[in-house]
Amino acid sequence: MTARRTAVVTGASSGLGAGIARALAARDHDVVLVARRADRLEALADELRTAHGVAAHVVAVDLADPAGPARVAAAVADLGPDVLVNAAGFGTAENLVDEDPARIAEEVDVNVRALTVLTRLLLPSLLASPAGLLVNVSSTASFQPVPGLAVYAATKAYVTSLTEAVWAETRGSALTVVCLCPGPADTEFFQVAGTERFKVGQVVTVEQVVDVAMRAARGRGPLPTAVVGWRNRVTSVLTPRLPRRLVLTVTARLTGATERREAPVTVAAGTGEQAR
Ligand SMILES: NC(=O)c1ccc[n+]([C@@H]2O[C@H](COP(=O)([O-])OP(=O)(O)OC[C@H]3O[C@@H](n4cnc5c(N)ncnc54)[C@H](OP(=O)(O)O)[C@@H]3O)[C@@H](O)[C@H]2O)c1
Repeated sequence: MTARRTAVVTGASSGLGAGIARALAARDHDVVLVARRADRLEALADELRTAHGVAAHVVAVDLADPAGPARVAAAVADLGPDVLVNAAGFGTAENLVDEDPARIAEEVDVNVRALTVLTRLLLPSLLASPAGLLVNVSSTASFQPVPGLAVYAATKAYVTSLTEAVWAETRGSALTVVCLCPGPADTEFFQVAGTERFKVGQVVTVEQVVDVAMRAARGRGPLPTAVVGWRNRVTSVLTPRLPRRLVLTVTARLTGATERREAPVTVAAGTGEQAR
């Protein structure tokens, strides 16, 4: 009898995280579903127990809370997870000067800090497994700066950089590392962002993203980065080779950052307050 495998999936209450959790359960993994909305997680856990006969646990946690990753790690310590999927994340879509400082701090906390700390906390368990798997959900936004989505794209550039480095650090172990880079996908992402300005590039389905993730999880690629959508793959190869100024000009136009910049920002003397 083969040992059961346990997968921790963040962002499992919606979209890509839920899709990947379903795919892993269908491949006979027990799952630990992590996000804030406990009702959504409980409903998915019920669905997966019934459909696949797997064990499904729920950890309702806010990953913007600095204590969040440690709470997840404590909750799964006895399970010895083999798989970690960091899918929790969100984006904001204004020029930096117009962003809400508290919201962008939360964005960095969830997309960067929580992903990094949770990866670090669970890595020993993943490395101890004969079939360890780490999937970090990055984005095609990680391949260039994106004016108008500056913070989001920078968080995803971090995720790609971190994940590729961890892949190199763990070569020679049994761990498979995947840096999953979807193009725009129809999830709740754009509702949360409050705009569709993010929809730059080839739109892909949740099923396509999950399919690429599951194929990349077999770990046969020369690099850990898996871009979803053939046009997105072409763009991801070409963009870093183009003049940076051209890339910035084109992306600023695509996201509408240029038009928004043209509304002048003035700083009221002595107050530090901005006025338009
Ligand atoms: N959809 C796209 O176009 C696209 C493209 C490229 C990359 N991505 C990336 O894919 C990942 C999944 O996004 P999605 O498209 O599936 O969007 P989604 O449907 O909005 O799902 C986002 C998930 O992140 C969780 N989350 C957000 N803030 C959280 C917090 N503070 N604490 C815990 N969990 C939190 C949400 O759960 P709760 O709200 O229940 O907490 C939800 O489960 C993200 O990292 C995103 O950046 C998305």
